[in-house]
Amino acid sequence: MGLHRWCQVTLVIVCLFSSSLVEGLKTYSDRNSLDSFLRMQANEEIKNPKTGVLYNVSLPSNLTGMEVSVVRLRSFSLWSRGMNYSFFNLPPRIMSRPSQKRIAILYENLGNFSSYYYNVPNHTMVAPVFGVMAYSSSDSAFVDEKINFTIHGDPIKIWFPLADERGRNHTPLCAKFTDNGLVKFKNMTKPYVCEVHRQGHYTLVIPSSPFPDELHTHSHGRRLTTWWVLGFAIGFIGLVVLGLILLALVMEVKKRKIRQMEKNSAGEELFDTFWIGETKLPLASSIRTQPILEN
Ligand SMILES: *[C@@H]1O[C@H](CO)[C@@H](O)[C@H](O)[C@H]1NC(C)=O
Ligand SMILES: *[C@@H]1O[C@H](CO)[C@@H](O)[C@H](O)[C@H]1NC(C)=O
Ligand SMILES: *[C@@H]1O[C@H](CO)[C@@H](O)[C@H](O)[C@H]1NC(C)=O
Ligand SMILES: *[C@@H]1O[C@H](CO)[C@@H](O)[C@H](O)[C@H]1NC(C)=O
Ligand SMILES: *[C@@H]1O[C@H](CO)[C@@H](O)[C@H](O)[C@H]1NC(C)=O
Ligand SMILES: *[C@@H]1O[C@H](CO)[C@@H](O)[C@H](O)[C@H]1NC(C)=O
Ligand SMILES: *[C@@H]1O[C@H](CO)[C@@H](O)[C@H](O)[C@H]1NC(C)=O
Repeated sequence: MGLHRWCQVTLVIVCLFSSSLVEGLKTYSDRNSLDSFLRMQANEEIKNPKTGVLYNVSLPSNLTGMEVSVVRLRSFSLWSRGMNYSFFNLPPRIMSRPSQKRIAILYENLGNFSSYYYNVPNHTMVAPVFGVMAYSSSDSAFVDEKINFTIHGDPIKIWFPLADERGRNHTPLCAKFTDNGLVKFKNMTKPYVCEVHRQGHYTLVIPSSPFPDELHTHSHGRRLTTWWVLGFAIGFIGLVVLGLILLALVMEVKKRKIRQMEKNSAGEELFDTFWIGETKLPLASSIRTQPILEN
């Protein structure tokens, strides 16, 4: 059963190849997968978290420069006291929807990875991207499901450090990255302070002049490589399938040749034959048994 074996081996190779490909694409290469990666990392790195204690989440070496911290709060504590941490000021009277007993808040400073994950068309980011993300929290999962903040008092304030000198010469705008991939703009309320009404990711931008937008081409390039990888994979699988079909054809022809030789040795030439290269193929004769018309 040579052909059978062959098919099995090829199938295994194809499976291994495509699963490693899927593995390769299942990384934190885009915003959403970064979000779920950070959530998973927080859950894995922090054992037995205490409520009200802020923890730094350690990140893999290729995310050096990004800073992520997480805290679990009782909803009532957030509602009554709010929470100040680093560049973020969460005032009192913030609730969650759906309503939760305890909330996990992830503070993210994307640092020099800001332009890797985020870009604002026709604008230049002059500050890092900051994220303040809300999750439910339980005993089984420290950082559980994404939830929404609802704000009944003052808005959340984010203080931005300038990362780009150009932000000093122009008045930057607050930019909010929405869930559907769009960007919304708002004026700052104080120098380099943005007031926001939701959890999410924010930064400061200035309109970019005719300068080529390098951030844009960067993400474009990454999209292009993804397409290249996909195209290559599909091409590869197609080639393997083609190879299998060819192999099956060759086997079939060989089988027929053997049958033919057996018949030949038995002295019964039933079909005419013709040759392709070294392969002898049977050719059904058009005048094998003439039907006899009866009157
Ligand atoms: C970091 O490395 C992991 C594999 O260890 C990879 O999946 C991920 O895409 C890399 N991230 C960046 C930003 O290079
Ligand atoms: C967390 O990281 C920040 C910045 O790297 C550092 O200032 C702070 O001391 C760290 N906090 C803890 C609890 O390790
Ligand atoms: C960010 O900076 C760190 C060092 O501070 C470096 O190791 C890392 O490669 C940088 N990442 C990017 C995307 O530039
Ligand atoms: C947070 O900071 C604001 C002013 O920056 C202050 O009024 C408020 O009391 C602080 N809240 C907490 C919980 O520390
Ligand atoms: C960016 O600017 C170009 C030319 O000024 C314009 O055609 C394009 O629509 C703009 N893009 C966005 C997303 O506003
Ligand atoms: C949070 O709000 C957004 C938009 O307002 C909505 O699409 C989403 O379903 C909400 N999420 C939860 C968990 O309620
Ligand atoms: C910001 O404020 C200026 C006036 O100071 C106004 O013209 C502009 O429309 C505002 N921009 C946004 C995005 O609210």
